[in-house]
Amino acid sequence: MSGDLRRVRVDYAGEHLREADVPAEPDELFARWISQAFAARDAGLIKEPNAMILATVEESDRGVQAAARAVLLKEYDALGLVFYTNYTSAKAAQLVQHPRATALFYWGPLFRQVRFEGTVTRVTRAESEEYFALRPRAAQVGAWASGQSSQVSGVEELEATYADVAQRFADVEQIPCPPTWGGYRLVPDRIEFWAGQPSRMHDRLVYTRVGEGWAVGRLAP
Ligand SMILES: Cc1cc2nc3c(=O)[nH]c(=O)nc-3n(C[C@H](O)[C@H](O)[C@H](O)COP(=O)(O)O)c2cc1C
Repeated sequence: MSGDLRRVRVDYAGEHLREADVPAEPDELFARWISQAFAARDAGLIKEPNAMILATVEESDRGVQAAARAVLLKEYDALGLVFYTNYTSAKAAQLVQHPRATALFYWGPLFRQVRFEGTVTRVTRAESEEYFALRPRAAQVGAWASGQSSQVSGVEELEATYADVAQRFADVEQIPCPPTWGGYRLVPDRIEFWAGQPSRMHDRLVYTRVGEGWAVGRLAP
């Protein structure tokens, strides 16, 4: 099997990103961009604007390895980005070893990419419980049923566990949040906003944390 994609080309034509137009606080710019990404979703151009690629650092007998997967952004503010997962998952183990991560958003139809780099900490138990209660019941059962990232014998094992858990909670109105499930907050110290431009002369503005504030710089494309 092979593929030749060398002639596949898309002309990028994003809105310019100029130093004079961006706010001092990067979360304000992110709020602007993600709300435009949701508008693009409403126009049918993007499926899940809050999906982000989360990259962590894995150390094993294979050596040091970058590990990446998609997760969903559930909250964001000046403090950082919150996502939810299983605390026994591979990513959780990696975050214990190295509590640093990158979160990347790529919104192709807008010719935009955002990269957050920072430190990851668990959210409070109260925050996890509050969000867990908002999840659909099937997803709540799934959180109890899945030892995320563990090896399983086959799909039958997963289906049997799911059915057992659903049965166990059949008479429980509000399924509690599993102790092994919860949120993380990525607290960024570097954020890069990328806006695709014609002739590959893309705009790249980087916010770097300096004390309580942020410095803004430009990188060559
Ligand atoms: C669009 C999309 C969104 C996802 N959202 C989440 C999520 O919010 N939390 C989560 O734990 N896994 C989510 N997943 C599954 C992860 O990509 C991954 O398979 C899982 O978390 C296990 O990763 P790990 O073994 O590296 O820990 C999502 C997958 C996709 C494709």
